[in-house]
Amino acid sequence: MNHNPVSMLKQDLETPALLVDLNVLERNLKTMADFSATSKCNLRPHIKTHKTPALAQMQIVAGAKGICCGNLREAEGMIAAGIRDVLVTKEIVLPQQIARVAELAKQSEIIVIVDNAEVAENFSRAAIAAGTKIRVLVDVDVRLGRSGVAPGEATRAFVRQIEKMRGLEFLGLMGYEGSLHDSSAEEREKQCQVAYEKLVGSKELIERDGIPVRIVSAGSTNTLRIAAKYRGITEVQPGSYLTSDARYRDSEFKPAISVLTTVISRPNRTRVTTDAGQKNLTQDEGLPKVKNRDDVRVIALNEEHGILEATGEKEIRVGDKIEIIPSHGGTTINMYSQMYGMRGERVEDVLEIVG
Ligand SMILES: Cc1ncc(COP(=O)(O)O)c(C=O)c1O
Repeated sequence: MNHNPVSMLKQDLETPALLVDLNVLERNLKTMADFSATSKCNLRPHIKTHKTPALAQMQIVAGAKGICCGNLREAEGMIAAGIRDVLVTKEIVLPQQIARVAELAKQSEIIVIVDNAEVAENFSRAAIAAGTKIRVLVDVDVRLGRSGVAPGEATRAFVRQIEKMRGLEFLGLMGYEGSLHDSSAEEREKQCQVAYEKLVGSKELIERDGIPVRIVSAGSTNTLRIAAKYRGITEVQPGSYLTSDARYRDSEFKPAISVLTTVISRPNRTRVTTDAGQKNLTQDEGLPKVKNRDDVRVIALNEEHGILEATGEKEIRVGDKIEIIPSHGGTTINMYSQMYGMRGERVEDVLEIVG
């Protein structure tokens, strides 16, 4: 095999391979940049979807103020790649990870979220020991019931507590409302209004104590336009928009990623079996979709095999390549260590995935 895939043709790549169509990606990037340029909110894209420093750099160049990461490992990868303003949106509680955050705080502008006084105290102590301050947002449970302090008086009381911790710098609030994929536009708007009122209402209570709330972070790809116009929200954190996936086919952000597969068997006239199963494509958001053809569809994923059904007249042979659009970009990309940046049929770049 050619060990430098740059300039190789798609048809010559070993499969299964993760591809990103750079033309589509650049259009998604521009759509978001145009939106962001006219918005009152800062853009802090969630990079947990792509975990790719080169893509995060593109987002920063296109106007993002900073990024969100899903966990500490991702944050470490992004900071090592030179990105400074990094918010980790999952609670960090392990002592060894808290110690690493304290070290990172000296070389970056890492921000962590907290919802527990004991953990906050541990962050504060680690920061003092490292001779630094750790920047925190308080995680507010505005809808999902998965983490965060209850909004309103509970959040206010918690902020009063952490304001006294000398190793911490309280910056504001995060209240993630969820992607609301299964809701109608009307229902989504309604749910978001309720969630944002809890978040911004908490901010206003805290400010009555004379404590400034500089950041109020919320929003996803599906909800950012609602979040961005809501009073008091200062930044939005959409993730999926850049690489997108099959769930967004009808949205303004088109799927840029796909998994290139090879047909490995044609056991009968309608059955097409490929080399990409559950180890290469996730199905937590439903079955993936075949790209650019409606004569064949994915009907099941086994561990190693993709089971497709062909309904058309067009011949499909063993060795043919079929491109599949994941139904969930974040969980699929996570299974790869690199993605091929495609310009048409040719590999333009190989992008490293971290964390
Ligand atoms: C805390 C947080 N912020 C932002 C996002 C981005 O959501 P999306 O990928 O739907 O844009 C997620 C996704 O799960 C999230 O958990």
